[in-house]
Amino acid sequence: MFKVSRALLCAAAMTMASLTQAADPIVIKFAHVVAENTPKGQGALLFKKLVEERLAGKVKVEVYANSSLFGDGKEMEALLLGDVQMLAPSLAKFEQYTKQTQLYDLPFLFNDLAAVDRFQEGPQGKALLSSMDDKGIHGLAYWHNGLKQLSSNKPLHDPKDARGLKFRVQASSVLEAQFVALHANPRKMGFNEVYQGLQTGTVNGTENTWSNYESQKVNEVQKYFTESNHGLIDYMVITNVKFWNGLPPDIRTELEKILAEVTVEVNKQAEALNQTAKQKIIDAHTSEIIVLTPEQRAAWRETMRPVWDKFSAEIGPDLIKAADESNKAP
Ligand code: LMR
Repeated sequence: MFKVSRALLCAAAMTMASLTQAADPIVIKFAHVVAENTPKGQGALLFKKLVEERLAGKVKVEVYANSSLFGDGKEMEALLLGDVQMLAPSLAKFEQYTKQTQLYDLPFLFNDLAAVDRFQEGPQGKALLSSMDDKGIHGLAYWHNGLKQLSSNKPLHDPKDARGLKFRVQASSVLEAQFVALHANPRKMGFNEVYQGLQTGTVNGTENTWSNYESQKVNEVQKYFTESNHGLIDYMVITNVKFWNGLPPDIRTELEKILAEVTVEVNKQAEALNQTAKQKIIDAHTSEIIVLTPEQRAAWRETMRPVWDKFSAEIGPDLIKAADESNKAP
């Protein structure tokens, strides 16, 4: 009798073990549009590494860089359909889902990344992570890239130099308005179309960070960069609300812990990655980098600034005020 029940117990234990072993790991597809040697590209890879170390056999992360799974225009829809579980779109790409994140596109809003950190760590910044929950999209973290510089096939010193030029912009009404304020012609294009657009002359210029320029070889097709630091490229790491809430709680907690660690690392490295990319562009001798005088920079600021009033009601004046105040060091 004892022997039988022991044998039965053994068999049951073996079945349990093989069931656990056979259980497929949860797969998280993490897609993005930039190269791997950028702040976001590095962040996605670090997330994969830590998850696969700490949740080995339980969670598998597949990273798809360079729009290789979904590009701009398709990735958010794919997230809602469950074809991808994590994305980190630029904050300029959410206006279809929330008007509040348009805040981040206002020209000359943040003086530096420290001010961005202060805002994002405050109550209003944190609340924006949940601003699309009712649409099925939840923000898990903010990752930095950096401040934007202008690029063009003609030198841009003063705002009037941009008149009549065609500029590629992300899918953002604020960024469109910013170039209209310069009497230029904005054109919304996906990130993976930028190089060709500049090469063929569909557009004459654009705005982005040094790391995005260098990793996409934009310096091969642009003679001039103007170090304007006039705006921000920053990301929201997002997931599908149903997917995230459906995860076993212990796994979700561990993923959140890992993501918090990765976020610290990405945000610590972002500025250095951009400076390295800028140096590579300098060393390539393909393009001239224009440094603005304080007066010239003030002129760009003044020309672009009316955009704030145009979008103030949609974004919310209190939100703009809170972001602006984060420029004051505590
Ligand atoms: C762009 O489209 O210029 C950026 O959003 C790309 C990115 O994700 O950094």
